[in-house]
Amino acid sequence: MTKQFHGVEKASLKTQNLKKEVIKIFKKYGLSNNHALISANALINAELVGAYGHGLSRLKMYCDRISKKVINPKPKIKIKKISQSISYIDANDSIGFVAADIAIKRAIINAKKTGIGLVAVKNSGHYGLSGYYAEQAVKKNLITMIYTNAPPAVAPHGAIKSLFGTNPICFGTPTGSKIPFILDTSISMINRGKIRVASRNNQKIPFGVALDKFGKPTTDAKKALQGVQLPIAGFRGSGLAWMVDILSGVFTGGNHSGKVKDPFDDFSGPQNIGHLFITFKTNLFVKNYNKRIKENIYRIKRLPKIKGVKEIMYPGQNKYKRFKKNSKKEIKISSMTKKDFTILKK
Ligand SMILES: NC(=O)c1ccc[n+]([C@@H]2O[C@H](COP(=O)([O-])OP(=O)(O)OC[C@H]3O[C@@H](n4cnc5c(N)ncnc54)[C@H](O)[C@@H]3O)[C@@H](O)[C@H]2O)c1
Repeated sequence: MTKQFHGVEKASLKTQNLKKEVIKIFKKYGLSNNHALISANALINAELVGAYGHGLSRLKMYCDRISKKVINPKPKIKIKKISQSISYIDANDSIGFVAADIAIKRAIINAKKTGIGLVAVKNSGHYGLSGYYAEQAVKKNLITMIYTNAPPAVAPHGAIKSLFGTNPICFGTPTGSKIPFILDTSISMINRGKIRVASRNNQKIPFGVALDKFGKPTTDAKKALQGVQLPIAGFRGSGLAWMVDILSGVFTGGNHSGKVKDPFDDFSGPQNIGHLFITFKTNLFVKNYNKRIKENIYRIKRLPKIKGVKEIMYPGQNKYKRFKKNSKKEIKISSMTKKDFTILKK
């Protein structure tokens, strides 16, 4: 297995033990050793980068979906070679982590061979953080762009009903330093995982990120989940969400236009999420990319700063720092997640 940029395997002993517990649970629910390991690594990584909404709070959801036969624990994943650069994966309703892991590795191989790798995936599920896969490509000195769609959460500009998912947009590049540049952002003001965690823990969400079902602004997480989330930057964010739905849904053969099922609430069938992985070499047009990107980042970081800002950071720096800090500590598990563990281990 390709090591991640910051490597879950370098985390504290307590975290390693927690990972073993997660692997055990996934295996109990029918995943193979390897698929359980891939999935556990992704969940632990999410905790370590501080993306708690995509971490262990989702473990029960994945297991419930396996139990209800809407995630296939023993998928027969087909990889079709379209050309040396292009591959098409039918994930056979696998857990999303596994489909994405295979896809990014294939995209890396294709790009190393030909300069560019394009891999589309259909019949997949929720795969967690796009940036986690981007790191693998960046570690191999490739630029990458990754798209996935998600269940309806955000109302298209001008509509009063959610249809787009929080459809993250991800771009990663080597920086010539040890910290990768990884822009990995939902197109919603806040990602849905954060609202779910707030709802489970009876916490409020910030103002201006969601409307209740009557179209009124709300800070109540439960009401927000019943209402609509707001896109970033109005019609611009709505357009970006639409683009992701086309690239990862329409283009790949995955579900699109509001058809992706909510993983927590809709067990009527598999999600059939689509993903698109694009990877390419940094030296396709210039020989000195590393020097150029360093110069680019240097110039931006040197700009005069707003009062109170210590450092102008590039995307990915904050998560890298968080990972480093959290790796040394024990992962804190909420009481709800502890309850989930008790249920899942029975
Ligand atoms: N699989 C799915 O269906 C799905 C859906 C939505 C989101 N997600 C994932 O959720 C994760 C979180 O998304 P999010 O929108 O909450 O991310 P976020 O708001 O935490 O960060 C967005 C981006 O901004 C950068 N950033 C943050 N603070 C910064 C600063 N001070 N200066 C410069 N850059 C900064 C981050 O590094 C990141 O690249 C992502 O990894 C995304 O892939 C997954």
